[in-house]
Amino acid sequence: MKTASVIFISLSAAAVLITLSASGKISFAQVKPSAANAETCITSQCHAGIDKQKFVHGPVAAGKCKVCHGESPGHNENPAAYIFKTVIDISNICFECHKKFPARKFAHYPVQADGCTDCHSPHGSPYKFQLLYKGGDLCFQCHDEAIVEGKFIHGPAAVGGCVACHDPHTADYAMNLKAEGPELCFMCHTDKAENIKQAQFVHKPVAEKCTKCHNPHSASKQFMLASTAPVLCYGCHTDKKEQISTEAVKHGAVETERSCLNCHDPHNSNIARILLMDPMDVCMSCHDREYKLPGGTVLMNMKKWLADNKDQHGPIRQKDCSGCHNPHGSENFRILRKPYPPAFYEPFSVENYALCFSCHEKTIVLNPETEKLTNFRNGNDNLHFRHVNKQVKGRTCRACHETHASNFPKHIRKSVTFGEWELLLNFQKTETGGSCTPGCHKLQKYDRINKEITQ
Ligand code: HEC
Ligand code: HEC
Ligand code: HEC
Ligand code: HEC
Ligand code: HEC
Ligand code: HEC
Ligand code: HEC
Ligand code: HEC
Ligand code: HEC
Ligand code: HEC
Ligand code: HEC
Ligand code: HEC
Ligand code: HEC
Repeated sequence: MKTASVIFISLSAAAVLITLSASGKISFAQVKPSAANAETCITSQCHAGIDKQKFVHGPVAAGKCKVCHGESPGHNENPAAYIFKTVIDISNICFECHKKFPARKFAHYPVQADGCTDCHSPHGSPYKFQLLYKGGDLCFQCHDEAIVEGKFIHGPAAVGGCVACHDPHTADYAMNLKAEGPELCFMCHTDKAENIKQAQFVHKPVAEKCTKCHNPHSASKQFMLASTAPVLCYGCHTDKKEQISTEAVKHGAVETERSCLNCHDPHNSNIARILLMDPMDVCMSCHDREYKLPGGTVLMNMKKWLADNKDQHGPIRQKDCSGCHNPHGSENFRILRKPYPPAFYEPFSVENYALCFSCHEKTIVLNPETEKLTNFRNGNDNLHFRHVNKQVKGRTCRACHETHASNFPKHIRKSVTFGEWELLLNFQKTETGGSCTPGCHKLQKYDRINKEITQ
């Protein structure tokens, strides 16, 4: 890095040199300077071409060699002699004519080390600013080129536009950067800047530093990412990694190709949790068709179901699918947040229905007799208790209720799958009770005021 101090030594100059070092001062008595030649060092014999580069330094173009090389008496007559002044303390010479770099917090090492000519020719070069090499090649004289050898290379780095981001001399920001955090990237990515600044929700690392995910130079994955979702995301969201890798029931959405990005924007959104769309629309972007599970079960087309069944369950009216399902996967059947029995029959326990009872009163199934806890009663005979609260063949809620939506009151189902059989319920509601004629038993009525005695 140290500035080259040019020392021209030729064998024929030895005598002169000895004289120089012995006396300690410059004396060239035997050679007389020619006044005519002293004006310029550029002649057809001498230094021809020094001013013929595409980019010639100002003082060279003006023939002012002396401003840097000093007086060199005798050099013109005897160029082989060591009379060429060593140029030391280069930056001071440069700054005699050039404005000093503004005082900033960071200075590139070669600039601190007086190495102007590590990068600039003092005379001229084929490249702008008399640079010794073009674009990135200049930097790669000292830095490892591997930074741009990833499969996906950032536009400006690929074309050697290093100084678009790095000041080659001094800078206010570490790594000699021209700006800090996202602002560096916003210098060029103005559309992203606008989106992010206007967004209601910005992913925290995006607000802090784009390079937390993107390599500014190159990387093995598209968009200069070191990895793709979900691995990229797990780098910080270790709790999600832990949860998703250990849970029993996986969600296809996380397991399929874009994984997290099926639902989340990596940068920003106007929807909470940086979702791509309104929460329910996110779900419907896939559940607008049937899915076949590995066991052969076919999951219904939920979008069509909701369109065909107008009486929707409370949380669905609030468009909150995640109130019941964990979109990332779960320990429970159907990625439910809380337990809910998977079959038609289930021995009763309150915990088995934790899902329903996280919003509804569990008392509806606890007391054999009630005057008010549930409307599903015949006189005071609690029919919820009667059907559900059994150690053998307790009926699960699904025996009678649709979870998502139905065309019958109280989300009673039109029919229920019982083995291979699709049982119709034929539910009829009245002011004070109701009736059904399911495949399970003959017509049964209940009436809260005038207890039916058909049962
Ligand atoms: C802005 C300062 C500056 C000016 C003006 C300048 N030189 Fe140099 N010159 C240097 C420095 C510094 C070196 C040492 C080489 C290096 O560090 O790259 C040098 C080196 C040289 C060398 C050694 C060979 C080489 O090219 O490196 C020659 C010959 C030379 N200069 C001739 C000239 C001539 C002739 C002129 C006038 C036309 C001139 N210089 C003007 C700074 C200057
Ligand atoms: C005697 C005064 C003088 C000295 C000393 C000097 N320069 Fe210059 N330099 C100039 C002039 C004059 C120009 C031409 C400016 C222009 O064209 O606008 C110039 C141009 C440049 C340019 C191109 C700038 C541009 O905007 O195109 C660079 C780079 C440069 N000098 C670097 C150096 C370096 C490095 C040194 C020290 C080794 C140095 N200069 C020493 C006078 C000097
Ligand atoms: C690491 C390489 C490097 C070193 C060392 C370096 N420069 Fe530069 N310099 C550059 C590059 C690259 C540019 C062109 C910047 C651009 O394109 O914006 C430049 C531009 C310039 C310019 C013209 C544009 C401007 O910023 O005014 C001057 C003058 C200059 N340098 C002077 C110097 C001086 C004086 C030194 C030593 C104190 C020095 N440089 C050291 C790489 C270097
Ligand atoms: C003459 C050798 C040389 C050249 C040419 C050079 N650098 Fe450097 N650069 C260094 C050295 C030495 C360091 C400090 C050592 C280190 O931290 O790796 C450094 C450090 C850096 C740093 C890290 C700064 C920090 O704070 O740690 C960046 C960024 C950088 N250089 C970018 C560039 C760019 C961009 C170019 C081309 C315009 C360039 N360098 C050209 C020698 C050079
Ligand atoms: C889009 C802006 C941008 C461009 C263009 C760019 N860099 Fe960088 N560079 C950065 C940022 C940001 C960092 C700091 C990375 C970090 O903090 O992890 C950096 C760091 C560096 C470092 C030091 C750390 C390291 O990764 O080794 C060097 C050296 C470097 N850049 C050289 C270059 C060179 C050479 C080029 C041109 C081929 C270049 N940069 C182009 C933004 C850029
Ligand atoms: C000097 C201007 C400039 C700066 C600064 C800059 N970029 Fe870029 N970026 C570009 C250009 C040019 C492209 C190529 C555009 C294209 O291919 O459509 C690009 C492409 C990208 C791409 C790939 C886009 C695509 O659709 O393939 C990403 C990702 C990216 N930049 C991220 C960043 C990040 C992160 C930063 C800040 C560290 C940054 N950029 C800073 C100019 C810049
Ligand atoms: C949390 C990680 C992360 C952070 C932080 C991040 N990005 Fe991205 N970025 C990504 C991912 C992942 C993609 C790929 C998106 C895809 O495949 O649809 C991407 C894609 C891009 C693209 C190309 C596609 C597009 O969306 O236009 C650009 C440009 C981009 N990012 C710029 C930025 C900028 C600028 C910042 C900082 C303000 C930033 N990124 C911060 C993860 C991130
Ligand atoms: C560099 C670390 C980092 C990476 C990589 C990262 N995140 Fe984050 N993410 C965070 C931090 C920090 C928060 C804020 C956490 C908090 O506030 O508690 C966050 C929050 C979130 C949130 C909640 C946002 C909200 O508004 O509550 C979501 C969703 C998210 N990240 C998804 C992702 C996805 C998807 C990826 C992969 C594309 C990803 N993250 C990659 C650090 C990261
Ligand atoms: C099927 C769509 C979907 C997929 C795929 C998905 N998420 Fe989410 N994510 C959501 C929804 C919806 C929420 C909001 C849930 C809520 O409010 O309880 C959320 C919330 C989050 C949160 C913030 C709240 C929390 O639970 O901590 C983080 C962080 C998060 N997701 C990260 C991820 C990561 C990482 C991935 C990939 C492994 C991912 N998500 C995949 C839909 C999804
Ligand atoms: C990217 C597409 C996609 C999105 C978005 C999506 N899903 Fe899924 N979902 C699937 C696939 C594929 C399956 C079936 C494969 C599997 O889970 O193994 C599935 C299965 C399910 C299952 C049954 C899980 C089981 O194995 O029993 C439920 C429940 C579910 N999704 C709910 C949701 C909810 C709620 C949302 C919105 C937060 C959502 N899905 C968003 C693709 C998606
Ligand atoms: C009140 C809680 C709750 C809400 C809200 C909810 N679900 Fe469900 N979901 C369930 C339960 C319980 C099951 C299991 C039903 C069964 O097997 O009887 C289920 C099953 C599913 C299935 C599998 C269906 C099948 O054919 O087996 C999908 C797909 C699904 N839900 C998607 C959604 C989507 C999309 C939303 C939002 C529109 C949503 N769920 C809202 C509780 C809920
Ligand atoms: C996230 C909260 C939540 C969960 C979990 C939940 N529900 Fe609901 N449920 C509601 C809301 C809210 C209503 C609407 C109440 C209203 O309109 O007054 C409702 C209404 C009902 C109704 C109709 C009540 C009426 O008077 O019209 C039935 C039946 C029902 N839920 C059954 C269930 C079953 C069965 C489960 C378990 C699979 C369940 N719910 C899980 C919130 C929930
Ligand atoms: C044998 C059929 C059947 C089963 C099994 C069943 N319900 Fe009901 N449920 C009904 C009927 C019928 C009504 C409507 C009563 C009325 O309003 O006349 C009802 C009404 C409700 C209501 C509205 C409030 C009320 O009690 O009147 C809720 C909430 C409810 N059921 C939740 C559940 C839950 C949770 C389960 C499972 C633990 C369940 N039901 C099991 C038939 C059933």
